[in-house]
Amino acid sequence: MSRLTNKVCVITGAAGDIGQAAARLFIAEGARVVLVDRDAAKLEQLITELGQAHAISVVADVSNDLEVRACMATAVKHFGGLDVVLANAGIAGPAGKTLEHCLVEEFDQVMTVNVRSAWLAIKHAAPLLRARGGGSIVVTSSVMGLVAAGMAGPYVTSKHALIGLAKTAAVELARDKIRVNTVNPAPVESRMMREIEHGFTPADENKAKKAILATIPFRRYVHTDEVAKMMLFLASDDSSFCTGSSYLVDGGLVAI
Ligand SMILES: NC(=O)c1ccc[n+]([C@@H]2O[C@H](COP(=O)([O-])OP(=O)(O)OC[C@H]3O[C@@H](n4cnc5c(N)ncnc54)[C@H](O)[C@@H]3O)[C@@H](O)[C@H]2O)c1
Repeated sequence: MSRLTNKVCVITGAAGDIGQAAARLFIAEGARVVLVDRDAAKLEQLITELGQAHAISVVADVSNDLEVRACMATAVKHFGGLDVVLANAGIAGPAGKTLEHCLVEEFDQVMTVNVRSAWLAIKHAAPLLRARGGGSIVVTSSVMGLVAAGMAGPYVTSKHALIGLAKTAAVELARDKIRVNTVNPAPVESRMMREIEHGFTPADENKAKKAILATIPFRRYVHTDEVAKMMLFLASDDSSFCTGSSYLVDGGLVAI
């Protein structure tokens, strides 16, 4: 039996590597999805691949209050309700700079895109999930939400903040049968990691990758489909008693 049959899901950051993997898996499991991203061209490509029977795209800035509200409303208008939100959009921010050297604008941008966006998703999804009798909100944090790494301070700060946000929402929304959890992936084989590696060691990106791999007992990055499977578990009724917690997909990184 498909695990998201009849579920309507909003996925933010849907045009990115992890968002695309989640969209493919959620649809394969029977979901209808609203794909949200600021990258119109990539969204269009994704819709072409996935077809319009099960997916619709919305170009939006996930840190904008009115635009996020409109994204959630699209799920109701187009598919008749909302059951699952994957608040996944995020940016790496400045990599390779100490906190001391980060600019105010850089710090604010990371907090706005990574944290405010997830809060807005929760804020505007909650009434719609409540109207449906419950639901699941999955927030993409990171291993960097649980441990620190130098030279990525705004990102680490934002990913820690998401855990506090998800825990608070879980406590507040439990009575409405709305579950809220974070997924915490290790570095993913992805565009974002290429950007981070370049920030750490611009002259030789492999050098940064080697150093990062040395911190992961599995000695590899996680694949997007492995992250998507954890997202599916948390989105679906398989995780019916799971709320207010963080779920690692980390190859043992946080164990050492
Ligand atoms: N890639 C990794 O190694 C890794 C590891 C752990 C956690 N994460 C987290 O997973 C999530 C997805 O990352 P990814 O690897 O797919 O990155 P990505 O850069 O491929 O995708 C992120 C997507 O978010 C979109 N986005 C960014 N700002 C936006 C905004 N203001 N409004 C709307 N859309 C916006 C981008 O257009 C992009 O499509 C992020 O929250 C990231 O922090 C990534």
